[in-house]
Amino acid sequence: MEKKSSFTSKLGFILAAAGSAVGLGNIWRFPYLAAKYGGGIFLLVYLILAVTFGFALMITQIAIGRKTGKSVIEAYKMLDKRFAFLGYLEALVPIIIFPYYCVIGGWVIKFLAVYATNQGHEATQDGFFGGFISAPVEPIVYLAIFLMITSLVVLFGVEKGVERVSKTMMPLLVIMSIGLAIYCLTIPGAMDGLIYYVKPEFKNFSLKTVVAAMGQLFYSMSLAMGIMITYGSYTPKDDDLEGSIRYIEIFDTAIAFLSGMMIIPAVFAFSGGNNESLQAGPTLMFITLPNVFDSFAGGRILGLVFFVLVLFAALTSAISLMEAIVSIFVDKFHIKRQVVCFAVMFVAFLMAIPSSLGNGIWSNVLLLGMPFLDFFDFISNNIMMPIVALLMAILVGFIIKPQVIIDEVETSGTFKSKKMYSIVIKYIVPVCMLIILLSSVFGYV
Ligand code: PFF
Repeated sequence: MEKKSSFTSKLGFILAAAGSAVGLGNIWRFPYLAAKYGGGIFLLVYLILAVTFGFALMITQIAIGRKTGKSVIEAYKMLDKRFAFLGYLEALVPIIIFPYYCVIGGWVIKFLAVYATNQGHEATQDGFFGGFISAPVEPIVYLAIFLMITSLVVLFGVEKGVERVSKTMMPLLVIMSIGLAIYCLTIPGAMDGLIYYVKPEFKNFSLKTVVAAMGQLFYSMSLAMGIMITYGSYTPKDDDLEGSIRYIEIFDTAIAFLSGMMIIPAVFAFSGGNNESLQAGPTLMFITLPNVFDSFAGGRILGLVFFVLVLFAALTSAISLMEAIVSIFVDKFHIKRQVVCFAVMFVAFLMAIPSSLGNGIWSNVLLLGMPFLDFFDFISNNIMMPIVALLMAILVGFIIKPQVIIDEVETSGTFKSKKMYSIVIKYIVPVCMLIILLSSVFGYV
């Protein structure tokens, strides 16, 4: 059997978990959802959910991992035999997300290539991005490149190296995003975007806002995907979990907020903030940012640097996704790591192809009325993760009882918000998850 590695320091755990959490979800997904689902009101709902919900779920997952010392499938089995199936269900989530994550990772590499070959201006033309993603071959080549880089890192076990590099890349990304956000605010028309983004308008509130914010929370914090349980199992017993988790949450949310600051005002500045541009969805960042970079001298070089940084953020998340999948097979079936890596790479490639073609020649193939990429995103974020979280909350809230988690957290310090924690995990999580599920199933989203 493979030897289980363990984090040697609190910082090691924080960095790995933050590396998994901060990725395309923050930079690409958060801004387009915020633009689409009501701006300020989405932001407000997201922030409230992050400090209550996100916190409770993350501490539960990490504590389960640390208590059992197991990865996801074995961990639930150890807590209660009847819940063994929950481990399998949770293990399925990264398997669904990983392939389409690589499709978006491929788009990032394409833009990197665009800026490296000085075609930044062409990228602002109407139809440039749409033309690229709807092509049958080119986006698949880029997704293959992204997938190969990720697989090589996981195969050779050089995650530590990547983490070390991204330790310097992440602060750069933050500085650059702040700079770009400030710059965007100076463009005429951007102020309306800022207001739309930060001022909650209750008339924009709907159930969809909550459902989208909740799905985003899971995605962004890598919750209910087995990853945080596995990371918990590597965490030393004397780590202050509550403090570490607050730190990861703040970091993850701050990067998402900054990305919104960079993109949403720019949408108003360049496309007038009409409803159609706000609804652009997954393509928003790739259409807006080229305009920003094209609008000032030196923007093309900054564009290149920016996409390199985004690529690193995307890679650390993709690596954690693939690592989660690989370790499930290695732990459970004792298959050699190299074999599993190749198999996962191959299957992920096949699964990613429909997500890519769905933007072009297969755009008329719809599952539940959605193209493939949106379908996988919907099934994982709006159906599977809420089911996993609901069952986990029932297991912890009513079967093993929240005290077990509280005791685990308190082996290494105090658990200041334990009262709130018990209430959230017992009542608020199950009720909210049921609402999400019902609204997803009945087509609110
Ligand atoms: N949290 C990552 C992001 O925001 O990009 C995406 C992700 C990573 C999702 C790992 C799921 C996961 F297991």
